[in-house]
Amino acid sequence: PERPYVIDEMISAKTIAARVEALAQEIETCFAGTDKLVVVGLLRGSFVFIADLVRELDLPVEVDFIETSSYGNAMESSREVRILKDLRGEIEGRDVLVVEDIVDTGHTLAHVLHLLEGRKPRRLKVCALLDKPARREVEVAADWVGFEIPDEFVVGYGIDYAQRNRNLPHIGKVRAAE
Ligand code: PRP
Ligand code: MN
Ligand code: MG
Repeated sequence: PERPYVIDEMISAKTIAARVEALAQEIETCFAGTDKLVVVGLLRGSFVFIADLVRELDLPVEVDFIETSSYGNAMESSREVRILKDLRGEIEGRDVLVVEDIVDTGHTLAHVLHLLEGRKPRRLKVCALLDKPARREVEVAADWVGFEIPDEFVVGYGIDYAQRNRNLPHIGKVRAAE
């Protein structure tokens, strides 16, 4: 960040925890009876959310990751999604849940879904903690959304501003310091 900034709390850690528990219940119901659910986190932003979510899931789960990057150190999406690290496992014929921290322009999620669909999973669903529908540039939607938020630059609970603030336990919004 070029200028000093402050972070105002937007969603408390307690509120997030309650919502994660509710999301996990809906996901369990959807995938009840699955032989295995491959939970795919999109690094790096989803690492906190996926850790909390899988611990609430009473299902046979495999955890895997894809690393994407579109923002780099900028506040604006580059719209060019790069796959920096691919899945370790095969997903053909598998039940797959993509876990994302935030859907903003939608470019990241659309790119990843297109990639994974090509591998012919049995079911492919998406759970995103945050959704900023006002910013959408490509038509893509998560099956489960934790919170719909206004067009504010947010950090915390895995989400960064120029790689900082991922370790905040709550979601906060960034504003320029006076
Ligand atoms: C952020 C965020 C989402 C994506 C959303 O990731 O974690 O993955 O941008 O933006 P979009 O809908 O406009 O594509 P980023 O590219 O910053 O990488 P990071 O997860 O490592 O922070
Ligand atoms: Mn990300
Ligand atoms: Mg980022």
